[in-house]
Amino acid sequence: MSIVKINALTVPEEQRATLEERFASRAGAVEGSDGFEWFELLRPLEGTDRYLVYTRWRSEEDFQAWMEGPMKQAHQRGGQDSGDGERPRPAATGSETWSFEVVQQAAPKK
Ligand code: HEM
Repeated sequence: MSIVKINALTVPEEQRATLEERFASRAGAVEGSDGFEWFELLRPLEGTDRYLVYTRWRSEEDFQAWMEGPMKQAHQRGGQDSGDGERPRPAATGSETWSFEVVQQAAPKK
């Protein structure tokens, strides 16, 4: 079964639009990564004020391979040097990564 990796982002109210814009123009590299199965950016409505970046992978190894390669490039605008000398402030003030194993899953009947 697959594994799920969630990055939980703490985003101040005034930075929410910036965060969503950054994701709207994200690298789009994850889609081409071996073993990648799903991505969702989840905006909080109730119960938490953290955004969740939900990703699902075929295996831990596939996730680690993405982390060591394409992930770094895909995150370059998120506060690191973007190459033009500008360093945009990260929209998130904190992050925490959670890991899960998929134990059961279901999809709607066709
Ligand atoms: C230091 C913590 C992190 C922060 C602050 C962060 C924030 C962001 C931001 C703002 C973007 C939009 C692109 C950009 O502007 O860079 C992004 C892209 C993304 N992040 Fe993170 N991220 C972090 C770590 C992670 C981790 C650990 C994961 C794995 C679950 C993850 C999954 C993703 C994915 C899948 C994308 C889209 C990449 C693509 O389109 O190819 N992030 N992240």
